[in-house]
Parts: sequence; structure tokens; C-alpha cells
Amino acid sequence: MKYGHFDDSKKEYVITSPKTPLPWINYLGCESFFSLISNTGGGYSFYKDAKLLRLTRYRYNNVPYDNNGRYFYIKDNGVTWNPGWQPTQTELDSYSCRHGLGYTIFESSKNDLAASVTAFVPIGDNCEINKLTLKNNGSSDKNIDIFSYIEFCLWNAVDDASNFQRNLNTGEVEIEPGVIYHKTEYRERRNHYAVYGVNAPVAGFDTDRETFLGAYRSPSDPEVVEKGAATNKVASGWSPIGSFQLKATLKPGEEVSYVFVLGYIENPKEEKWEALNVINKKRAHEMLERYNTTEKADVAFKALCDYWTNLLGKYTLETEDDKLCRMVNIWNQYQCMVTFNMSRSASYYESGMGRGMGFRDSSQDLLGFVHLIPDKARERIIDIASTQFEDGSAYHQYQPLTKTGNMDIGSGFNDDPLWLIAGTSAYIRETGDFSILDEMVPFDNKVELAKPLMEHLRRSFNFFDNAKGPHKLTLIGRADWNDCLNLNCFSDTPGESFQTTGPSEGPVAESVFIAGMYVKYGNEYADLCEHTGLNDEAKEVRAKVAEMYKAVTTAGWDGEWFVRAYDANSNPVGSKVCEEGQIFIEPQGMCVMAGIGVEEGLAQKALDSVKERLDTKYGIVLLQPPYQRYHLELGEISSYPPGYKENAGIFCHNNPWISIAETVIGRGNRAFEIYKKTCPAYTEDISDIHRAEPYAYAQMIAGKDAANFGEAKNSWLTGTAAWTFTNVSQHILGVRPHLDGLIVDPCIPDTIKEMTITRHFRGNIYKIHVNNAAGSQKGIKKMTVNGKEIEGTLIPFEANQGTVEVEAVM
Ligand code: BGC
Repeated sequence: MKYGHFDDSKKEYVITSPKTPLPWINYLGCESFFSLISNTGGGYSFYKDAKLLRLTRYRYNNVPYDNNGRYFYIKDNGVTWNPGWQPTQTELDSYSCRHGLGYTIFESSKNDLAASVTAFVPIGDNCEINKLTLKNNGSSDKNIDIFSYIEFCLWNAVDDASNFQRNLNTGEVEIEPGVIYHKTEYRERRNHYAVYGVNAPVAGFDTDRETFLGAYRSPSDPEVVEKGAATNKVASGWSPIGSFQLKATLKPGEEVSYVFVLGYIENPKEEKWEALNVINKKRAHEMLERYNTTEKADVAFKALCDYWTNLLGKYTLETEDDKLCRMVNIWNQYQCMVTFNMSRSASYYESGMGRGMGFRDSSQDLLGFVHLIPDKARERIIDIASTQFEDGSAYHQYQPLTKTGNMDIGSGFNDDPLWLIAGTSAYIRETGDFSILDEMVPFDNKVELAKPLMEHLRRSFNFFDNAKGPHKLTLIGRADWNDCLNLNCFSDTPGESFQTTGPSEGPVAESVFIAGMYVKYGNEYADLCEHTGLNDEAKEVRAKVAEMYKAVTTAGWDGEWFVRAYDANSNPVGSKVCEEGQIFIEPQGMCVMAGIGVEEGLAQKALDSVKERLDTKYGIVLLQPPYQRYHLELGEISSYPPGYKENAGIFCHNNPWISIAETVIGRGNRAFEIYKKTCPAYTEDISDIHRAEPYAYAQMIAGKDAANFGEAKNSWLTGTAAWTFTNVSQHILGVRPHLDGLIVDPCIPDTIKEMTITRHFRGNIYKIHVNNAAGSQKGIKKMTVNGKEIEGTLIPFEANQGTVEVEAVM
């Protein structure tokens, strides 16, 4: 069952019923000001940091769900309704919500009155714009009252939701005609405030929540709206809100538009005040002036649309399969940009109050957006590397605002160092910019410890010189990619953190997954050494990699698949000798991606085992059989009920690893089959089962051992976005950056007979036409570049070529 449809011509998903199984959201903003917006107008806004600088209040985990947002109450002839249906839930005559790239449009109607709300964050500004248009489609005049509503958050979202003894006293606002200023804590240490304005004369305003709603009432039936008259009350403490009342008289066929702006304003310390306790509003006035007509708002909207069209034009696909095209051209790349902006901070499942930027998460996210915004990727790499310790290990997380490592979670996740190589190598392959390796980058954010980035990568790799276990495999530390495989934790006390309990450096527990990474990213590091003239070092690195390869194919091989790990007692995890958790997905994907066992036939065996033991109709589960009881020696992984999250859920993030692995051994049909199973566009028809947005990947889909098999959770902020885009763009469609140029080597299903990929790469535009009339799954028979035949699959890079025509025959 579906709740809408894709409109590819506009790059939108059109939701046609407000009653989606879960709130289906979108993100506004791509620089510093961000908003979450759901298909009923729910969500909230923040500046840079969802925890520390939150403008509006949202109620997570509330009933009914999706509580609070930017709301417009329209009162027409005694009937009150909202264009987004919530919060009044008045049945609408028509409703649609179009989630587009950086904007959302509601179009609804009730009793011959049509309303549309266009919500977006303009490029280059720190505000959300809501353009509201009303049109009288009836045959008599209409006298309409409009009430807008937002609820301010007192900036620090954690404090706002907990420290009531203080914060019910601190709320303050200032008012001007058509403008409400939220200035809580501005009197003391803050030098920022929020501004909420509308570009039309208002009939009144409200700024105190309880006055607007009425005691014991909710946004679903505000007293002020019921009475039809704003109170002009100035909030003093309690919960400040922003609400305007506007009155419109519309003749048949007539329409009217208003522009509402919610903005973040920061003043230099010395320019904070106009007079005692009167805030300096100059910058706010300037902001409101920029959008004080519908024309100006429309121009800003157009600029936003152009921005996205340009950005996503860097990799485009034309082929017969519409679903594939819409994911590649629009939604997957869009989600990569969202994960760039949000990391794992603010979604409808990540409260924006918790973790900051993950070292591992951000390094992987980079793989998905580096071709879109290489300059920002460069900056991000430097930020990440700056939180690395001198021995190559790293803070697991850092704060986006301060960019310093987060002491609470600390270090000891032994996969982290290798992800830095992964991200940097992807950046250099994309851009050819080797100069990044010479950048001086601090260790532990201490400038005095700065060393060139290349030294950081060296220490990442060499970290394992002293971090190998009894089987010569890499030590796992606190955990590897799988945060929930805690082999050195042994927690038996409720509430203890699985991530920080126990020693961070167990000398025994080993990870075959990290060993696979060591081979893959060790080789990529050696490539960088060779390209920078460090041939001796490259040789040493390759020798160490070869030893690890040997350890993986011996101690790390279980007969039919790769072992997952060895625990702190050196017992295997993910082996046929285990009672539960006999086979895990991660090492099968990572080891084969690293090329391990391809020649020996182990790779194919491992992937066949995945198909036989882990595959389901909705995707590949993380392990089998699931853990039925808590294992002290394994930690959090066994804390989840069977079928959820890391305990045999379909963890979407590592499904593409298996798909990529299939392309390594040339099985295009299988690679694509895996790709489609978790791909939102292909699961749109089962939205009632899947429940999450059909245009964004979720972190997890409940596995076959769960009661709700097929139900997705944690949509949007997941490394799945980056890895599925890497998979489909570089491995299935096969257009892959290389240090020396661009590789064209598709591994596609035999049903794709023809496709054209347009790829911007280091200033050139490659138009790559692939002819697969032969119905092959892998293998380029012949390739011409601007009419000249070349050997192999690598198009050597030459600068300033403009458009390069590539014809490839499979
Ligand atoms: C974390 C990742 C981790 C994954 C698997 C996610 O929630 O953000 O860092 O790799 O879970 O445990």
C-alpha cells in the first residue's frame, strides 16, 4: 500500500494522505540554519547545533505523534483547519504534501478555500520562510481568520526539557507590529535571539502559550482560535510562543499570500543593545526586509531550486528503470547531503540532544557526498583528523559547534583510525588533490601537536602494529563498526553504558571485520604512498597487509564463511561452532570488498553462505541465528530482542557491502537484487509494512526473527545513504574515481541493456554511454574515449577536456 507517489519531473515525493504510518519528514536548510518538517507541518528549527541552539520546541515520543511544528490555523465560516491537517486534524477536502529538495509544499482545501504553504530555508540566510497562500474557490465572499503558531525553545534543548525550576522564569520576548522577538537569556550571556515576523498588517498577536491555548488545552484546539481574537499578551516567563492573527476578505477567485519568517540573529557583543533591555534589531529588520514581498520570497525559492539542480547534476543516470534513476539522480544523493549536514544528530529518531559527530560515521558519510561538495569534504576530513590521538586512535565522537573530541564516550573503537584513510583516499581519488596530505592537522585538537595529514594516516595504519591479538588479527578494542559487539565490556549492571564499560584495550579480543578493513584501506594507504614517492613505505605497508591477509584466510576463515571475531577468551564469534550468531554479515562484505579470498574461491563461498543463511525478502539480516539470551561476553548485541537492530535486524548500512562484494566477483544480477531489497523506491508499494519514508533509507528494517518483520526504523541519518550511493554509482553502474582517472566498469543485471551516465569529475564532464545489448553482467569488451579506443577500464585523467564522450560496450 502507498500513501503517495514520486513526481520525478519536480524531484518531489507527493504524499496524498496526512495519515502516514509514521511522520514522513524532510529537511530544510543546507548551510547553518536547519529545520525538520513532517508531512503534517511538524518539526523544529535550529542553528548549527540541534542541542545548543534550538529555536523551536518539539515533543519527542509524545502522543499523538509528531507534536509541535509551524502551524497555520485557518478559520473560515466557523470551521478551523490546518493545511497540514495537524494539529486540529479537521478532515480536509483535499490534501497533499510535496517533499522536495530543501523545501516542502502543502496544498490543501476545505469548503472551497484552498491553502498552500511553501516552507524552505533560503540559501545564504539563517531563517525558515513559510509562504502561505489562500484562494477563494467558492462563489461568495469569504471572511477568513488566520492564526499562525510556533513554540520557542529556550535554546539549550536538554535544559529546555529538564530544568523547569529555572526555565519557567526566564522566557522573554519583545514585540513590534508584525514581529515577535524571542530573547530568552539575551539579557545575560547570549548574543543571539530569534525573530518571527510576517509581511502584512496583523490583527493581533500572542506570545504566551497558556494564554493562546487555554489551560489544559493543546494546539489541537487553542482557545484564542476558538474565540477568534488574539490577546496581544506579552509573555513573561513560562513558555513563549509566536502567533499572529491576520484577517483576509476574499472575493470569489481572489487570492492572498503572506510571507512568515522565523530567523536566527546574532549580534556582536558590543552591539547587543539599543537601550537598556531593548535588543538591537537592526539585523532582524534587514532579514525581514529581504523577504517582505512574495516576489522576494519566490526569488529566494527559485535560487534554492537552482542550487539543488546544479548540485545533483554532478552524477546523473538515464536508463529504462525509473526507480533506479530516481534513487541515483535524486533521493540517494539528497540523503547523502542530509547526513553530511546532520551526521547522527537530529531526525525523528535522533533527538538532537545526544551524540555529536561520529569519527567513523562522518568518515563514511563522506564517501557519499565527496563528489558533490569536495571543498566541504576537505574541511570535514581536517576536522575529523584533528580529533585523532597521537597514537592513531581517535575520539569516537566530537561536537559540531566546538569541533573538539567528546570525552564522555572517549576512544577505543578500533575501526575508527582506518575510516580516516577511507575518507581521505576517497577525497583524493575524487579531486586529485594530494595537497591535502601536506595540511598541518592537530592531534587531539592541540595546535602544538600538528603534523601533516599524511602523518595522521600513517599513524592510523601503524596503530595496529601494537594492536594485534593471538591470531595476528586486529584487536577490536571497545567495538568495531558494530557498536554493539562489546567483547571487552562484561557489563552486568543495568544502565551501564555498553560503549564505555570495561577496558578499551583488551589484549585478546580480535575483529576479523577490522582485519578486512586493514587489508582494504591498508592497500589504499599504500597507493597514496606510491603516488607521493614513498615507495619503501608502500612496500612495508603491503607486506603487513599480506600478513593480515594470511591471518584472515586462516584464523579468520570458518570453512564456509569468514569468522566475525574472537572474544576475550579467544573463542570464535560468528562461527559454525557457536550455538547462536554463527554467521555475521560484516566480515563477508568487508573481506570480499578488500579482495580477500577472491582468487582462492573463498569469496564466492562466503557470499553464497550469506545468500543461504542471511538473506530474506526485505534484505540481508546482520546475523543468524539471533541471540536468544544475554551474553555477558558479547555485550549489547545480545541485549536486543531477536530480529531488531544489531541482533539479526536488516541493518541497511552493510547490505551494500554485500552488494559491492558481489560486483567484485562479477555477479551483477545478485548485486542488483540485493540493492533493490532495501532501496526505498522499490519498497514504496509496501509502505504499510515498511512504514518509514519511501524516499529515504532507514538504518534498520526488522529481521525475520522479529514480530514486525519488514518494518523500518531510524530513517534518514544512517551510513546507509553513503554506502548505497557508493555501491550503485561506483560498483553497480561502475563509474569509479581512481587516483589516476575514472574507471568505467559496470556490474549490472543482464536486464539493463543500455544506460548513460553523466559524471562531473575534476572539472571535466564525462558522458558515458554503456551498451549492454549482449545482456552481460560484467566486463567491458571495448571502450572509446572521444572516439579513440583505450585499453582496459581506466580513463586516464587529463585536465581541461570539457565534455568527454565515452562509449563502452559490454
Ligand atoms: C552508529 C554506527 C554504527 C552502527 C552499527 C549506528 O547507530 O551510528 O557508528 O556503526 O550503528 O552499530
